[in-house]
Amino acid sequence: MTIPEQIGAAVDFIKTRYAHQPDVGIVLGSGLGNFSKELFVDISIPYEEIPHFPVATVVGHQGKLIFGSVGGKRVVAMAGRFHYYEGYTPTEVVFPIRVMKALGIETLLVSNAAGGVNPEFKVGELMIITDHISMAIVNPLLGRNIEELGPRFPDMSQPYSRDLIQKAAAIAEEQKIRIKYGVYFGVTGPTFETRAEYKMIKILGADAVGMSTVQEVIAACHMGLKVFAISVITDLGIREEDNTITHQEVLEAAVAAEPLLSSILTRLIAVC
Ligand code: HPA
Repeated sequence: MTIPEQIGAAVDFIKTRYAHQPDVGIVLGSGLGNFSKELFVDISIPYEEIPHFPVATVVGHQGKLIFGSVGGKRVVAMAGRFHYYEGYTPTEVVFPIRVMKALGIETLLVSNAAGGVNPEFKVGELMIITDHISMAIVNPLLGRNIEELGPRFPDMSQPYSRDLIQKAAAIAEEQKIRIKYGVYFGVTGPTFETRAEYKMIKILGADAVGMSTVQEVIAACHMGLKVFAISVITDLGIREEDNTITHQEVLEAAVAAEPLLSSILTRLIAVC
């Protein structure tokens, strides 16, 4: 079965459960799933019920697509995303994004937890992603181009919508939420970076580093979606000599910053 056929089968199945067309797709990052509480939920569909959705590799790591509304918009939110480091192929990582596009979304909002490499950043701050560096990840568009989805050589001069960045900046100001802007450096993980790697990432022009988002955004740009992405800075890569990073620390910082993120996303959805 070709990928467009698989997308078609997933969409046909979802439409038997949910008849409306969503306007906005949302991907929630680690520790940031609470945003779904802001939604008036119509229906949740576990990933394992959707044809051709990747199968969860981790026991107890259940994910679902949540259909609902907020701010007068119909949304579809991924509670749980697929990471390359979990063993999914790049095609599997971006499959849900392609399904959401085929369901009718025009805008994709993405959140993630990221390590700060900009020395001005503090743990718990939000960074609106203005651009990314993808060379350290595997491009999900490698291989034969799927013409039905988009062009062979997609333009990446403005992957993150300027319009949405401006609207989010205005919302943050109005809500008195301090916001940073910066370049996100994608890595495969699952190791956090060495001190030398954090230093390299900073020298290469990035402000934050993380293990998600870039493949999803590339697939979204390929299909012409309008994209907005935002990071919670959960740890600082460049620090004193004896510092270490734990997943626990990352999750705690993400959970702590989540209300600020939800506040921005709910308002952004209303105007996007
Ligand atoms: N590096 C990579 N990914 C991350 C980090 C980090 O420091 N923090 C959260 N996700």
